Amino acid sequence: MAFGDYQLEIYLQGLSGIVPTMPMAYADWEAKAEAAMPPSVYSYVAGGAGDERTQRVNRTAFDQWGLMPRMFVGAKERDLTVELFGLRLPSPVFMAPIGVIGICAQDGHGDLATAKAAARTGVPMVVSTLTEDPLEDVAAEFGDTPGFFQLYTPTDKDLAASLVQRAEAAGYKGIIVTLDTWIPGWRPRDLSTSNFPQLRGRCLANYFSDPVFRAGLSQPPEENLQGAVLHWVSLFGNPLTWDDLPWLRSLTKLPLIVKGICHPDDARRAKDGGVDGIYCSNHGGRQANGGIPAIDCLPAVVEAADGMPVLFDSGIRSGADIVKALALGATAVGIGRPYAYGLALGGVDGVVHVLRSLLAEADLIMAVDGYPTRKDLTPEALRRVE
Ligand SMILES: Cc1cc2nc3c(=O)[nH]c(=O)nc-3n(C[C@H](O)[C@H](O)[C@H](O)COP(=O)(O)O)c2cc1C
Repeated sequence: MAFGDYQLEIYLQGLSGIVPTMPMAYADWEAKAEAAMPPSVYSYVAGGAGDERTQRVNRTAFDQWGLMPRMFVGAKERDLTVELFGLRLPSPVFMAPIGVIGICAQDGHGDLATAKAAARTGVPMVVSTLTEDPLEDVAAEFGDTPGFFQLYTPTDKDLAASLVQRAEAAGYKGIIVTLDTWIPGWRPRDLSTSNFPQLRGRCLANYFSDPVFRAGLSQPPEENLQGAVLHWVSLFGNPLTWDDLPWLRSLTKLPLIVKGICHPDDARRAKDGGVDGIYCSNHGGRQANGGIPAIDCLPAVVEAADGMPVLFDSGIRSGADIVKALALGATAVGIGRPYAYGLALGGVDGVVHVLRSLLAEADLIMAVDGYPTRKDLTPEALRRVE
């Protein structure tokens, strides 16, 4: 079944009087989610760094590209499959790590719900270090869909190694190390309400269930939450340098991917340091304001990666955005905030709906505009829109 057939399903159900319960586009997902989520969780998800200019331009930069339609192509069958780190994926889309996804679900188990949506759609989930359920429990819900683990590298190297070993043992297919968040960025929305979920003991399940972390506590988290949180604060963020890359590389034989790369020189150096993939992202504008739209960084990073897979996120809101990111060279495209809103609105079904909607639109654009496969999507397919 083609991804675009989702529209047929919806139109046909309409004949029996069934109309979608979920909105069909991003602006409405966000607006309805705002009403459905506790204000502190919504503002944590929606907010970004500074006056959120980087976050906004991440989005508007996509509008400066347009896809040139080609006719007489007969793009009846589309092939969106992608080979990534030896895995064959049905689409070049994945769910970016969202540390508070656990608390975006009404029942507080959003990590499990997202993993179930991955199982249903074949869209891999990148599981954050910051979850409400331990990484092993999340992996148990993946079904046949591969999953990836995102590491926030702690200052305690034994804890880092323990988290990676647990991910390997639980069957994760790659380790994504996030480089841009060893310290939280300046986020006025959260600051104005003193809202930082982890300091309230949320989303720390991977730490609280870790033998190395627990060994560093005088009392277990179940007896002394504040002590455990303070211990977490003391070892959360490791300001890594290039000298640490050989150590990171030595932690795992799984594919190692570095997230937060925007400069081509960093991509080149990471590649020389033995990583398996580059993840071009500016964290959705949540970390540093005054930046460059992530999509504008992508082409040079792709060139520097020189054939190595390049994952991309930051600003993807529609199927059209996915198509543009692929045309600019992304091997796979990460969905961030949209699936968090889908989860808040409809649980597992909500995430599935968001993913299917985005994929349907991407597939139908490729059909209508005559680009039936990913390899047809090159920068030549795009034009600047003034
Ligand atoms: C609420 C929230 C929490 C996030 N948590 C993490 C995280 O734990 N680890 C990580 O690498 N990135 C995290 N990110 C960044 C995403 O992986 C991704 O880079 C970003 O959402 C892309 O921007 P977009 O959602 O605006 O498209 C988070 C993003 C949001 C919105």
